[in-house]
Amino acid sequence: MRVEGVRGMRDILPEETLLWQNLEAEIRTAFSLYGYGEIRVPLVERVELFSRGVGEETEVVDKQMYVFPDRKGLQLALRPEATASVVRAYVEHGLYARGDLAKLYYLGPMFRYEKPQLGRQRQFHQYGVEAIGSLDPALDAEVMDLAWHLMERLLVREPSSEVRDPELRDEPTANGPRSTDHGLLLRVNSIGCRDDRPAYREALRGYFAAHEEELCPECRRRLATNPLRILDCKEERCRTLSRGAPRSVDHLCPSCRQHFADVQANLQALGLAHELDPTLVRGLDYYTRTVFELCSRDLGAQDALLGGGRYDGLVELLGGPPTPAVGFAGGMERLVIVVSAHHGATEASEPALDLYLVPIGDEARREGAKLMAALRRSGISADTDYMGRSVRKAMTVAGRSARYAAILGQNELARGEIKLKDLASGEEKGIGLAELVTSPHSFVR
Ligand code: HAM
Repeated sequence: MRVEGVRGMRDILPEETLLWQNLEAEIRTAFSLYGYGEIRVPLVERVELFSRGVGEETEVVDKQMYVFPDRKGLQLALRPEATASVVRAYVEHGLYARGDLAKLYYLGPMFRYEKPQLGRQRQFHQYGVEAIGSLDPALDAEVMDLAWHLMERLLVREPSSEVRDPELRDEPTANGPRSTDHGLLLRVNSIGCRDDRPAYREALRGYFAAHEEELCPECRRRLATNPLRILDCKEERCRTLSRGAPRSVDHLCPSCRQHFADVQANLQALGLAHELDPTLVRGLDYYTRTVFELCSRDLGAQDALLGGGRYDGLVELLGGPPTPAVGFAGGMERLVIVVSAHHGATEASEPALDLYLVPIGDEARREGAKLMAALRRSGISADTDYMGRSVRKAMTVAGRSARYAAILGQNELARGEIKLKDLASGEEKGIGLAELVTSPHSFVR
């Protein structure tokens, strides 16, 4: 009986994992350059971590979370995101007692029961950072600079012309030279603190109530429960309406207003172009003050490459002392789409192996096995045929998988030699087996 995989949960095969590994290595390097250390948190948490932390009313918790009881009836959830888990770990391990900024990063799978489409999976993978312990607006800007820097590392080649959005070119708030680099756009907003929220919510409710019949059915419900979520709706009619809605930046208390002005000044100082997007509120309830998204024209409808912001109340909400924090997370699947669009399939076309052994006869096979074992211990990747292929077919496999073919037949064995063929240049030479074992790197480069 064939058992199929679960919808929205993809296998990633070796041809593709090569690119993933490269991206993950770049991500780790970029995160380390900004002073972040890796934290590994479990895939499974108590359900209340997310219902409290992310918010009962959010789509992610209300509609998309995988929830199940364990054998003793404890309600658990597959993590839909990692910020709440990282904050839980921060509180649980008393990291605040160190009195320093905690800079933590993570990579790993997340789970949301969404409608699968390009760049949207039910099991997807995030890379993200959380900087916990400072309210400094320079830190908000640094976190956004990290996001930019990461994309610069990954999207070094110029984008094709259609990735630029003509609509955004004349945007008066976009500034500086980096606004359309690589088809990327940094959208920024401030949604203020908890104290700013009630007045803003009422302003939104008043505005949308006057247009109630134009809203989608879901947003009519949101009107009563949480009108902020209407700004996040993907329905075209709601988006159109949202463009004329009251702006959160006009409902900030003096200290939030100052904080946002300082964030923008810091972005300016770093030369990070950004666009003020008054409809940007993000889909998770923990956000306060700064929110941002880095979007790519290569992604179509699911255009957010990464998103984040401040969550100054979350540590306290989850049982720690009042502690401000800021961070972001991005989707690996979306990064793979954008990077592939920029670079083509070049990453995957490099041969995976250093050497492919083509033995002729049983004795050569046995000697060859010993040789490969020695080469691998010297850090040279090597493989051979286990499918009973002819020499000609084995050479074809060598040609597509390795940089060198090593041919070992009776004649070579008798002379204590092996024939090494450089598969790119076609150049062949006989070398001593013992020599190859003792200094393999002088032959396989
Ligand atoms: P989020 O906006 O829900 O924020 O997700 C961040 C990113 O994860 C998105 O921009 C997108 O690239 C990717 N993503 C989300 N859902 C999916 C999906 N179903 N399939 C593929 N990719 C997806 C958070 O998760 C926050 N924890 C970010 C954060 C960290 N805020 C502060 N710190």
